[in-house]
Amino acid sequence: MLNAFWSCVTVPHWLSHSSSQRHPSSVPALPAGPEIPWPGDHMIALSDQGAPPAPACQSHAGLLCCRTPSDYIAAILELSSLVVRRQHRLLLHWDFLYYLTPDGQRFRRACDTVHRFTADVVQQRHQALSHLGREAWLKSKQGKTVDFIDILLLAKDEDGQDLSDEDIAAEADTFMFEGHDTTASGLSWVLYNLACHPEYQERCREEIKDLMRDKESEEIEWEDLSQMPFSTMCIKESLRLHPPVTAVSRRCTEDIKMPDGRVLPKGNVCLISIYGTHHNPAVWPEPQVYNPHRFDPENSKNQPPLAFMPFSAGPRNCIGQNFAMAEMKVVLALTLLRFAVGLDESRPVRRKPELILRSENGLWLHLEPLGPSHESRPPAPRS
Ligand code: HEM
Repeated sequence: MLNAFWSCVTVPHWLSHSSSQRHPSSVPALPAGPEIPWPGDHMIALSDQGAPPAPACQSHAGLLCCRTPSDYIAAILELSSLVVRRQHRLLLHWDFLYYLTPDGQRFRRACDTVHRFTADVVQQRHQALSHLGREAWLKSKQGKTVDFIDILLLAKDEDGQDLSDEDIAAEADTFMFEGHDTTASGLSWVLYNLACHPEYQERCREEIKDLMRDKESEEIEWEDLSQMPFSTMCIKESLRLHPPVTAVSRRCTEDIKMPDGRVLPKGNVCLISIYGTHHNPAVWPEPQVYNPHRFDPENSKNQPPLAFMPFSAGPRNCIGQNFAMAEMKVVLALTLLRFAVGLDESRPVRRKPELILRSENGLWLHLEPLGPSHESRPPAPRS
């Protein structure tokens, strides 16, 4: 399963080339092909040190053989902002009223775009499968990538029935939405936090250089990802300070008695603030400070189990969390091996919580290519 997803995601091609040849003044255009090239980089703008920062990047995330990824991403972004706007307007909680408003109509259109897109992909694959037949289809996949849609097309439910196209499209939608925007946000914020803290950035780089001492960076392996303790602490602290998903909701299936004696009645929908928990000074002293050492094994020993929950908790928590951590570690490692990441001080960052935690005007970072020997020159500390 993991391999299948992993193969869907490729790091941007400028990351997989020697840094000495690379001076990206902006993130390059989407390469053609049936893969997801970069898990949604609408938040982050990158540039050479010295050159003017690149304009806010176009989004690159696409699903499978997406030819117009921007439509899909634009629709996802729109949905994510419309949902939050609706939450703040009580009267618009009624579907009847909502769909009469311009926002409601935009919501419908964006939903249609997203659903049509996935449905088309699933339908095309289904037709190809029916055309070839199961055996020939499986044979044609031997030695090749079997992706998520393939797995679902071949899956059976508990009664031995194929999944319907609608079921498959619904699963694909969930994974696309939960999988790309969240990781893009997580990655963007960790690069931002390390740009704000060059001392931590440098320590991560040293750790990664040590790990990759005898191999090319393209050879980073699954096992290597568990040998990056400090970088992992930096990612976790970033997920605490800037959790990509700021809240989750649950409907009470029974009365729930709170520690102070009050009762949440059955049927109520509760909003659980991940952001609030991660910034609660009773749990996290000086919560606004980015301090990866909070996640030192020694320091986290006494952490309450739900103090840190970027991936939520309980039976419906994030099923992609290991994959997401792996993605972030790989991209972080390959980026820090090649570039010193600095802040563009002229563009202040203001958080913008939508369904995903974004920044109002993007996160603007300078990338300074490091020499072939990977001799790093960290950017100047923040004043
Ligand atoms: C930094 C990256 C990510 C973060 C912060 C994140 C966070 C979350 C959160 C908070 C939930 C909500 C669970 C709830 O309602 O309690 C969730 C659900 C989910 N996530 Fe992630 N996620 C990330 C990456 C991914 C990736 C990469 C995938 C897939 C490859 C994924 C797949 C899912 C799915 C399928 C669900 C729905 C689970 C269910 O309803 O049972 N997520 N995620």
